[in-house]
Amino acid sequence: MDRKRLFFALWPDAPIRAQLSSVAASLHSVPGRRVAADHLHLTLIFLGDVDVNRQDCAQRAAAGVAGRQFDLLLDVLGYWRRAQIVWLGCSRAPTELLSLVNALQANLIDCGFAPEARAYRPHVTLARKAQKNFAGATIAPVCWPVTRFVLMESIQEQGGVRYAILESWNLMAA
Ligand code: 2AM
Repeated sequence: MDRKRLFFALWPDAPIRAQLSSVAASLHSVPGRRVAADHLHLTLIFLGDVDVNRQDCAQRAAAGVAGRQFDLLLDVLGYWRRAQIVWLGCSRAPTELLSLVNALQANLIDCGFAPEARAYRPHVTLARKAQKNFAGATIAPVCWPVTRFVLMESIQEQGGVRYAILESWNLMAA
């Protein structure tokens, strides 16, 4: 059966994307591959390669989540040596974000998606194949008002990856 590579994410609108992109651009000395501005996002849950039945189930699971809007302050630059990525994250993850991921995760169990064993570390990947540790560098913090989450498809093409929004769910006003 046809499968799609799917993940739930927070997808920035144009003004926040511009701010994230300018943080990425300020890392001009990072010896790595900068993530293109229109690819910048924050993953909530990675589902992997999924057939249409499980995709439907995941969409129903997401519709059943009653998440709340929140402000996401991205104020920390980090580096994971093994993954070789430079990322933007938060010194304090908002409880609404963690509740959203937990609720989504719980609803996805019945679709056959096992919860991620590793602790959730919210981050926006800014550069891949990065060789140096840039954690702690000074950046202009980004305050992202989060009002929705999305199901994304990652499509492998000749020139690289392309992302498509499959569905979007609004979060309730605080
Ligand atoms: P990353 O930015 O830290 O690489 C689409 O691939 C998104 O899902 C990326 O943001 C990626 O996170 C995330 N992701 C999480 N687990 C993944 C996995 N096992 N394989 C690929 N992507 C994964």
